[in-house]
Amino acid sequence: MKPQLPLMKVSFIVFFAAMIVTAPSCTSDNVDDKYGPGSACDTAVVTFSQDIKAIIGQNCEGCHNGNSASGGLNLAGHGNIQTSALGGDLMDRIQRPSSDPLSMPPGGPLSDCDQNKLTAWINQGAPNN
Ligand code: HEC
Repeated sequence: MKPQLPLMKVSFIVFFAAMIVTAPSCTSDNVDDKYGPGSACDTAVVTFSQDIKAIIGQNCEGCHNGNSASGGLNLAGHGNIQTSALGGDLMDRIQRPSSDPLSMPPGGPLSDCDQNKLTAWINQGAPNN
């Protein structure tokens, strides 16, 4: 039995080394794993009408509209959203960690995909397209 012990140790080391080497390929920033092949978050063609209007409408407008503008911020309509987006406040709040009381929306962060779409749209100049 005694001679087998070092062999077992070696195989444990090899096993754990293999786990460490292969583990990073399983993390969730692999787009194909997360969204499935062909349904990756597409930020190449982001428009206000197809993407941004719904993201802000569903996640922000309930508290930031013409009748109830929390923090004095109305996010109804392209003009208002563009002003906040280009001014930097919008992404500043969205990108704060959810532990920060100033993070928006207060109920929990937007998905990575929604955040990436917003950033792509703002980098185009937040157009009304
Ligand atoms: C549940 C209600 C609620 C939702 C949903 C919400 N907000 Fe807010 N928001 C607030 C309140 C209340 C304030 C004022 C307190 C503060 O500054 O944190 C505020 C403040 C802000 C401010 C700062 C305004 C200023 O000029 O001081 C920004 C920017 C903002 N929200 C963006 C957003 C965005 C973008 C979303 C959607 C991703 C969103 N909020 C969703 C309630 C909400």
